[in-house]
Amino acid sequence: MADENPFPGENNTGHFWDDNIRELRNPPPRWWMIAFWLSIAWWVLYGLLYPMWPTPPWKLEQTEQQHTRGMLGWTSIQEYKQGMEQVEQVRGQYEERIAQLSADEILADPGLLQYTIASSKVVFGDYCAACHGSGGQGNPGYPVLADNDWLWGGSLGKITETITGGRKGNMIGHQNILSEQEVDTLAQFAVDLSEGREASDEAWTLFNNKGCSGCHGPDATGVLGTLPTGDVITVGAANLTDRLWRFRPGGFESAKHTILYGVNQSGVEQTRDAVMPKFGGAGSAEGRLDENQIKKLAVYVHELGGGL
Ligand code: HEC
Ligand code: HEC
Repeated sequence: MADENPFPGENNTGHFWDDNIRELRNPPPRWWMIAFWLSIAWWVLYGLLYPMWPTPPWKLEQTEQQHTRGMLGWTSIQEYKQGMEQVEQVRGQYEERIAQLSADEILADPGLLQYTIASSKVVFGDYCAACHGSGGQGNPGYPVLADNDWLWGGSLGKITETITGGRKGNMIGHQNILSEQEVDTLAQFAVDLSEGREASDEAWTLFNNKGCSGCHGPDATGVLGTLPTGDVITVGAANLTDRLWRFRPGGFESAKHTILYGVNQSGVEQTRDAVMPKFGGAGSAEGRLDENQIKKLAVYVHELGGGL
């Protein structure tokens, strides 16, 4: 720093470096100053209108309020509540229409269908996903819902029945009914059909004579008959002719196990457990879903399976 100002008359501060680099007293541009003062004014104004200033510590004991209220009286919780009210209003309109319409009619209404699917996803996640998987993809022991292979029928009516009343497949164990040889033949029969091969005549004869066809249907597809409405009659018996195995891992040993010990047989330790709980009506163990929820879930599951 020089002792004397080498640039007399200039509005510098008297600070110099390297002889001629110096600090001037030029004011900031006007636009900048305006913005600066406006921002301060904005800050003060905002602080008056909205909750902002913390309550001084010595006042905290007399008031629960941790900050000033603001002249507008705005609070985030109030805004949230108003928002929720609006959402509920919109939902209420949809729910009212759903209550009045049948599941078929909902399916035919694109706007309503969209709402139904979106709102059912949550319910499905809460009540169904633990067993059937979050997208209905199934779990070991729990059937896939996201395909077009149904034990009990995939029409809206049948699905509603399933959710409302629950289902419990029933297949007797054959360990005391069939010889080991016959069990092997029938397990191979199930494997052959599922892999698209012709089963032997001997196996078909056993299938018919040992009562299997009484539940699995004459052609082993699990369907006993079809009504004029297109609905199927089943007792929940698995389709043995497709590649899907109801009980994993599937294949020869798995089929043999099912044939030997059956499904839901009380007193048979190794039997397959297959109980779909009841979600509707009185006396349901889990009777937590109302009619609208069941209706919407039926539509949702129907759409997962891509219709019948
Ligand atoms: C505790 C486990 C469990 C829960 C929870 C559960 N399910 Fe199931 N569900 C099953 C089982 C097991 C079956 C197969 C029943 C059988 O084998 O006869 C089944 C069968 C079904 C079927 C029939 C599938 C077919 O192929 O015909 C539908 C539809 C279904 N469930 C929908 C639902 C919906 C919707 C929910 C939620 C509200 C739900 N399930 C909750 C275990 C469950
Ligand atoms: C009383 C009815 C009934 C009879 C009789 C019956 N089944 Fe079943 N079977 C079922 C039901 C119901 C299921 C599926 C259970 C479920 O998913 O809840 C099943 C499942 C099976 C499975 C498992 C399929 C898979 O995908 O994992 C095989 C294999 C099978 N049955 C073979 C037979 C054979 C062979 C016979 C004759 C010896 C027979 N069943 C007799 C009702 C019956």
